[in-house]
Amino acid sequence: MCISNRLPVDRVIADDGTAQWKTSPGGLVTAMEPVMREQGGAWVGWPGVADEDVEPFSDGTIDIYPVALSEEEVQDFYEGFSNDTIWPLYHDVIAPPAYHREWWVAYQRVNQRFAEAAAAISANGATVWVHDYQLQLVPRILRSIRPDLTIGYFNHIPFPAYGIFSQLPWRKQIINGVLGADVIGFQRPADAGNFQRSVRRLLGYETKSARVLEPQSDGSFRPIVAKSFPISIDSAGFERLARQPEVQARAKEIRSQLGEEKTIILGVDRLDYTKGIRHRLKAYGELLEDGRLSVENTTLVQVASPSRERVETYRQLRDEIELTVGRLNGDFGSIADTAVHYLHHGYPREEMAALYLAADVMLVTALRDGMNLVAKEYAATRFDRRGVLVLSEFAGASDELKQALLINPHDIEGLKDAIVQAVTMPVSEQEKRMRSLRRRVAEYDVARWSRSFLNALEESHARRLVAEAANEGAES
Ligand code: G6P
Repeated sequence: MCISNRLPVDRVIADDGTAQWKTSPGGLVTAMEPVMREQGGAWVGWPGVADEDVEPFSDGTIDIYPVALSEEEVQDFYEGFSNDTIWPLYHDVIAPPAYHREWWVAYQRVNQRFAEAAAAISANGATVWVHDYQLQLVPRILRSIRPDLTIGYFNHIPFPAYGIFSQLPWRKQIINGVLGADVIGFQRPADAGNFQRSVRRLLGYETKSARVLEPQSDGSFRPIVAKSFPISIDSAGFERLARQPEVQARAKEIRSQLGEEKTIILGVDRLDYTKGIRHRLKAYGELLEDGRLSVENTTLVQVASPSRERVETYRQLRDEIELTVGRLNGDFGSIADTAVHYLHHGYPREEMAALYLAADVMLVTALRDGMNLVAKEYAATRFDRRGVLVLSEFAGASDELKQALLINPHDIEGLKDAIVQAVTMPVSEQEKRMRSLRRRVAEYDVARWSRSFLNALEESHARRLVAEAANEGAES
């Protein structure tokens, strides 16, 4: 069973009051949806709108169990504590986190509700996989209600260094909440290291390589695995999509609409301040200004899908980005040529695959990103081995995708040089690099990721059975 704040589908209420379901945004759903489709099972989560009591239902092989949030809880738990406290804190305070006691109260209440919902439907001895920063208290609550369960927790976003994490007024409660799990997964080894250090500093527990040792009341220790399991995508599925004749036809159409001869540079992100969209626009604008690129032979397509739109930092970001795009188009565009095609929409997977196929250069300039699955999607799609990935070293994906052009997005000069290098890269070098990126993404796909996490959970379950049997033996 899987629990995450977002369900794989979002309830959308149209103006005329009719309700529909659409695919939810974000990397978590992109990764987990194919895993759950394949394995089947229950998915507990919020349907994405306030005050909607939706009955459980089946979506193919997945049994969906919606958890309702009131309007006030959406504000305090989701927009507040999750996305205006934890999100900026865990992304190295790129934006200042806000600390409000009433948000923390709502976070505890909603985590309790998710845990109770999962506890109510889990079979005896079942495995429950809790996802992401919105639900960090769920593992501990779940363990206390249902000690028979094997519990995994995966943190999809970065885990910050202790010096940053320690700002959080409720730091001990959060760490203790996560430690309710048997296996705790992170994207990068550095995230797991940061977490372990926080455990040592805040709770004084011993850690041994990938294990945290939690002292028990009887003097023994419960070992908890805390290590990195880098997430991935359904690579074969993306390639299949890209090979579909309709998708290829759409890619051709995009190219001809943008200008057959042009170099197409693409950015695809949720409209989030962690993604470095401003840095990307700055670098691109300067390249146009300097004359190293021109609108006659290049264009930037920026897909910025709407996200967390009622949170003030996100509103400000949107204003800034739209102002900058307007300026760039005003300053450099002509009747015939547009500098930036800015698209404030989410698109279905088919359209994304077509855009990836059409793009000569893919820009991923995140200032901090747990993994960044867009980078992997781009590689998986390019079965023609063309295209260049420019990738931030602050995205988890850079640990694996070494043949991308790795950049520091804060270094605008370096970013500009990398964009020019990408635009002018000879085909032979594109192919060499793309082959290596594709090999990595094909081999380490999302099925392998979930297998390795679930194997770690199984091993931990087996260890527990052995320990229990030994205890019983000692007592009798
Ligand atoms: C990231 C997070 C997910 C989240 C997604 C979309 O990928 O790791 O937990 O669901 O963004 O954000 P949203 O706030 O719309 O759920």
